[in-house]
Amino acid sequence: MKVLLDVDPGVDDAMMLLLALGNQSIDVLGITTVCGNVGILKATENALKITAAAGSQVAVYRGASRPLSGKCMHATGIHGQDGLGDSHLPKPMNKPERTKAAQAISEMAENQRLSIVATGPLTNIAMFLDSYPDMAKRIERIFLMGGVYCPKSTGNVTPFAEFNFYCDPEAADRVMASGIEIVAAGLDVTMDGRCAVDCSMLAKMRGIKTAKASTACKIISNPVSRQSIFHLHDVFALFAMLHPEIFESRTCRVRVETAGKQRGRSIASFGIGNIKVLSKVNAEMFQEKLLRGLS
Ligand code: RIB
Ligand code: CA
Repeated sequence: MKVLLDVDPGVDDAMMLLLALGNQSIDVLGITTVCGNVGILKATENALKITAAAGSQVAVYRGASRPLSGKCMHATGIHGQDGLGDSHLPKPMNKPERTKAAQAISEMAENQRLSIVATGPLTNIAMFLDSYPDMAKRIERIFLMGGVYCPKSTGNVTPFAEFNFYCDPEAADRVMASGIEIVAAGLDVTMDGRCAVDCSMLAKMRGIKTAKASTACKIISNPVSRQSIFHLHDVFALFAMLHPEIFESRTCRVRVETAGKQRGRSIASFGIGNIKVLSKVNAEMFQEKLLRGLS
């Protein structure tokens, strides 16, 4: 499977990248960055730091520096000033490609159908669809982290809105209405504490003597000590692609509120549609895949 990773690293984006890069069951063609947890320059530098730490040659393409409308909000309170848990990983030697994200996505999709793992605001994907409308059919499936779909669950920016959809609701609505097959991991599953990193999971990670596990521990140890638990929202999107058997999902259509008090709210109509939203996770299997992916 040919895969593009669209990210706003971010600690959980970084964990997703470490698990994806070098995974033998997928062929990662590229990484595109988007403003979200941090600004675009820092998100791009962080993606380069992670590819370097993973010993990966995968190209990094800089993407949108702001949402389709409005301004970018950041989450350095959660992800640290450097966006990677204040781990201060070495400055990367490698540079981003000159091609911008939307064009890079079109070039990757030119020769083969492309699957996308999107774990930040969906600005790059929306810009790709708007700039290359005839290429939507070249996208096999999008596995994304975003939204919240169970009526009993609440957002993490406002009671209605999850961060990625709140940052760029227009882009989220555009992608969800595109007709492309989508698997969405919303907060209703990604906030499952059994799949988060707490001190006991961190201790297990420290016991794995690989470069990937060591980098993961460097990135996540400060957030875990500061917040006692760190949710791996973005890893759910990757595992939905790599390990679909550990999830249950529900079929629906989704629209996203773009203005007013409920800006960024994901509104699901269940029963029909091209979108599967994750509804349950086998937590034991999730933990096992996480530790094995770092080994
Ligand atoms: O709401 C969680 C999402 O917002 C995750 O993707 C996290 O990295 C932030 O981007
Ligand atoms: Ca993210």
